[in-house]
Amino acid sequence: MKIYSLKPIKIFIKRLANKLGYDIRRIPKPGSSSIAREYELVYPVANYSPWNKDKSFQSMLAAIKGFTLVDKYRCFEIWKLIEQISKLKKGSIIEVGVWRGGTGALIAKQAKNCGIEEKVFLCDTFAGVVGRY
Ligand SMILES: C[S@@+](CC[C@H](N)C(=O)[O-])C[C@H]1O[C@@H](n2cnc3c(N)ncnc32)[C@H](O)[C@@H]1O
Repeated sequence: MKIYSLKPIKIFIKRLANKLGYDIRRIPKPGSSSIAREYELVYPVANYSPWNKDKSFQSMLAAIKGFTLVDKYRCFEIWKLIEQISKLKKGSIIEVGVWRGGTGALIAKQAKNCGIEEKVFLCDTFAGVVGRY
């Protein structure tokens, strides 16, 4: 008996729904462990989306795709924070927890855009979260 994969059909239906302005997502099963309950997809209800109008942010977001675990909403928060701190006294920037460098690159790009000349330091254990406290 030949077994067919449903994956291409699922992809087709999702793409069709997207074209029609809908988004189909699987609802995660409620987890029983505390770690499973700590993670779920977040659906913000606000609709003010200034990141869509920021071309420089959009191009950076595309550039760091696959290199960050941080969603676009939080990336935009970081982006705006860098803009705000550029108005403060001089000082270097440090990111603790870099993973593949996505937000680090975003920070460095925006620092340059905003005229921050000091160094941007990126540091990581490169061994995940170390120890328990
Ligand atoms: C959620 S990831 C960072 C996300 C990253 N900023 C991005 O753009 O996706 C967390 C990172 O923090 C690092 N890390 C965890 N504990 C740390 C520590 N005590 N000092 C430095 N880095 C740490 C891990 O190795 C991991 O790469």
